[in-house]
Formats: sequence, structure tokens, C-alpha cells
Amino acid sequence: MRVPLLDLPKQYQTIKEEVEPGLLGLLEKQQCVLGEPVKSLEDNMARYCQCNYAIGVSSGTDALLCSLMALDIGSTMNPSQMNSGVQDEVIVPTFTFFATAGSVVRTGARPVFVDIDKDTFNIDIDKIEAAITEHTKAILPVHLYGQMAPMKEIMVIARKNNLKVIEDACQAIGARQNNNGPGHLSDTACLSFYPTKNLSAFGDAGMILCQDEHIAQKCHQLRVHGGLDRYHHQNIGANFRLDAIQALVVDIKLKYLDIWQKRRLSHAHRYDELLCSDVKIPRITQGNRCVYHQYVIRAPQRDTLKSYLEEKGISTAIFYPLPLHVQECFAYLGGKRGDCPVAEQLCQEVLALPVVPELTQEQIDYVAGCINDFYGHK
Ligand SMILES: Cc1ncc(COP(=O)(O)O)c(C=O)c1O
Repeated sequence: MRVPLLDLPKQYQTIKEEVEPGLLGLLEKQQCVLGEPVKSLEDNMARYCQCNYAIGVSSGTDALLCSLMALDIGSTMNPSQMNSGVQDEVIVPTFTFFATAGSVVRTGARPVFVDIDKDTFNIDIDKIEAAITEHTKAILPVHLYGQMAPMKEIMVIARKNNLKVIEDACQAIGARQNNNGPGHLSDTACLSFYPTKNLSAFGDAGMILCQDEHIAQKCHQLRVHGGLDRYHHQNIGANFRLDAIQALVVDIKLKYLDIWQKRRLSHAHRYDELLCSDVKIPRITQGNRCVYHQYVIRAPQRDTLKSYLEEKGISTAIFYPLPLHVQECFAYLGGKRGDCPVAEQLCQEVLALPVVPELTQEQIDYVAGCINDFYGHK
């Protein structure tokens, strides 16, 4: 049996009848960037995420970059910092997609890497305060695989130390924690609609969620090179504009997101039920509703298991094989092996199993059965 990690062509068949006339309409009108389709998506997204403001941008990466800039972090927003030798610092987990830290560097600030919790794989709340210095400006937690990092505790630390909080919610649209979603407690939350995500565009797209009018206005301004009136720039922004085509596709798919999330959840629960105890299944902490962007197990002999599953027609992936503090491009920050032992260990063990809504329960059962066979349970 073939079990893919992603099956976008199958998903497309279910929305094709709505997407195609919509796209043709845009082509006829030659509506290219921003405009009504983006506004419609922003309104629907703000409603869906229960946030006051949603600002469509070009990608999740740009949502992070634009958020950091809107909160005045880094030398791009404070050019005098460039010559001072002093850099703003932003605390990020070391176990995440590159963009979390890459966007910090692109503002001229310095990422400070913190280890993760061994059960949830999210930032280790007990290690944040030790990483705070007089230069720390923000905490950037990541809601990895669809489970929110402990926001209440993060906000307490942030308030105590006068820090901004930007949530990397690129993998966590629709997630909840004690009834709060991304963007409810923090300064901003960033979403990605990259094609692999739970809600995806037909290319790159992203969104900033926030509650504060001033921050929303600044994001709007930075999205168009820092000037809302043409050719008059109050800030140094960039081109973070969202395409109309992407907005239209995401807007249509948004209507189906809850149905798709339910299917992910049901697949995840099925794995929880079936998988043998040789593998560690994800731990979802109390009060959290995980949206299972990925279903990631900790597996002994991970690489051999991966090859075995491949032979059985099952695609899997490793998110992530190397933590950020030891990435070559961050060598200048002085990180070394042993600094974040939990993340370093997890990189050897994690394996993402197929969990997309387009899969059938038969396929999930087959994956679980093959894993159990591998460990000698018939
Ligand atoms: C945790 C995380 N942060 C940031 C990003 C960047 O999003 P994008 O690919 O839309 O730029 C992604 C997705 O790729 C992600 O998974």
C-alpha cells in the first residue's frame, strides 16, 4: 500500500469546482496583488482565529520578519544600532524550522537559542529566564507540529522582563490552549500557508494576527515598503505583499479547514491507540488542542525504521535533523554541541508519520501495523 506524507492533488479534487471559476475571474480582471481577495481572506481569518486584525503577507517567513520589524526589533528599524556594536536579542527554540531564527538575523538582531522540553518538543519554559540579558527584546516561541507552546507562562516571563512576544504559529493554525489561540495573548502570531501546511495556498502566503491596532497599522505599512501613501516612506519596510491568487485559494480552503483538522485528529488518535510502546507518541499537555500539522514519534533505530517503512510504501520525514544552534550559518553565535542536549537527542529520534486528512483509516492502520511489525509485535 502507498501512504504519502502529503496528497494535495486529492485535496484539490474536493475544492476544484470553487477554485477554478474564482481563479478565472481573477485572470479576467487581472487582479494580481492585495485588493479585494486579500481583504476578504483577512476578514475571514481574523474571524476564524478570533483576533482583531489579520494582515496578509507573502509567506510565514515574511510574517515573522514583518512582525519583528513592527515591534521595532533589530537594526533595520533602529539604524543607529548598526554602528553601535550592540544587537537586540531574541529568544528562540533551537528545534524549529530555520525561518524562525533566520528572520531574527534579517532584522539585524541576534537569535539566542534555548533548548526544548523533551515531551512536547516546544521551548523549555524553565530555560528562558537564564537566556535573558539586558539586550533581550523578545521571545519567539514556536508551536511545533501544531501544539502551542505554554503561552501563559511565556507571557508572565515576558511581562516581568518587558519583552515582546511573537508566536511562530506557522504550523498551528486553529490550535488552542485553554481557549486561547495564536495571537490572543502575544503581540503578534505568524501563520504560513506554504503548500505542506494544514491550510495551504497554491504557492507561498502568510498572515500576521494581532489584537493591537497600532501594531496592525505598522504591519500594513511595512508590507508596502514602509509607506502607506505612495512614495512617502515613514519606515524602511519591504515587499511583503500577498498575491490575490494565493488569497483566493486560501480563502476557499478556509471553509473546509475544520473538517480537515478533525480528520487529522482522528488519524492521530488512531496512531495513539495502535502504536506499540517501543515508540514514544506525542504528548499533548492538558488544555491544549493540537492540530497535528505533523504526527511525530520518537523512534529507537529511527533511520532503519524509516528505510523499512519506505520499502513498505510509506513516506516519512525528519523534522528536524539538526538543531539551529549548531547550524553552520550560526557558527558566529558560538553555539556548540552539548548546549541543547534535548534537541540534539531528538534530532536522532524524531520521525513524522503520514497524518494528512486525505488518508483513509485503512492507510493509518497499515502504517501503525508496519511500525509494530518492525519492533517485533505481530
Ligand atoms: C515553524 C515554521 N516557521 C516558519 C515557517 C516559514 O513559513 P513559510 O515557508 O511560509 O515562509 C515554517 C514553514 O515553512 C515553519 O514550519
